[in-house]
Amino acid sequence: MITFEKVTKRFSDGTLGLGEASFQIKTNEFVFFIGPSGAGKTTVMKLLRREISPSEGVITVKDKNINQLEKQAIPALRRSVAMCYQDFRLLADRTVLENVALPLEIAGVSEPEKAERIADVLKKVNLGKKANFFPVQLSGGELQRVGIARAIVGKPDVILADEPTGNLDPEAAFEIIKLFKEINLAQTTIIVATHNADLVNQFKERVIELKHGKIIRDQKKAKYVA
Ligand SMILES: Nc1ncnc2c1ncn2[C@@H]1O[C@H](COP(=O)(O)OP(=O)(O)O)[C@@H](O)[C@H]1O
Ligand SMILES: [Mg+2]
Repeated sequence: MITFEKVTKRFSDGTLGLGEASFQIKTNEFVFFIGPSGAGKTTVMKLLRREISPSEGVITVKDKNINQLEKQAIPALRRSVAMCYQDFRLLADRTVLENVALPLEIAGVSEPEKAERIADVLKKVNLGKKANFFPVQLSGGELQRVGIARAIVGKPDVILADEPTGNLDPEAAFEIIKLFKEINLAQTTIIVATHNADLVNQFKERVIELKHGKIIRDQKKAKYVA
């Protein structure tokens, strides 16, 4: 699904974001990217959606070199590689339903299909009863479930979640990763960036550990010793 071949990202001020990183992620894998703040986790995610371009190296998604994509092909890449954020990034003046509808509106999905897909994903994230609530009326865990619903409604191949539990208490955090695991088992590749060691150790998935932009470990069923 995804390959990085000796990918280096050096920002314009000279800071190294990522240094000669190579890895492969297969379809339907679940991977944690771990490492302290500044390790390069967000850089990996931005590169994968072509929000930034590598200084060197090759990134492929579904066998395509994404840095050779034409500009007009980038929205399709970003539908295929969807994103969840630590701060949720929901629109405050829109209901849960309207927030989840947004990607489908942008993609021009028909009204009946839109309604069906929204109902389906809200059920999946267990928010069917809160479709008409506004973000201010929801808990942190619920807000992130809206973020996840918005990410899966476009049927992406991959979901990137950048510190998705960073604003949540441990119980809500556990529930969010459990939900990602359920989505993963229903055939979606999941990549979660986190520096929460407890959470990583509860789930025993593949771990890719970064430090100063370098991969220092890539291990299945790994423990995170911070
Ligand atoms: N736009 C940018 N310009 C300069 N340096 C940046 C930029 N974005 C990130 N960095 C630097 O790149 C390194 C990796 O950052 P990042 O990928 O955000 O780390 P993480 O997500 O693991 O905390 C850090 O040293 C950070 O300061
Ligand atoms: Mg980050």
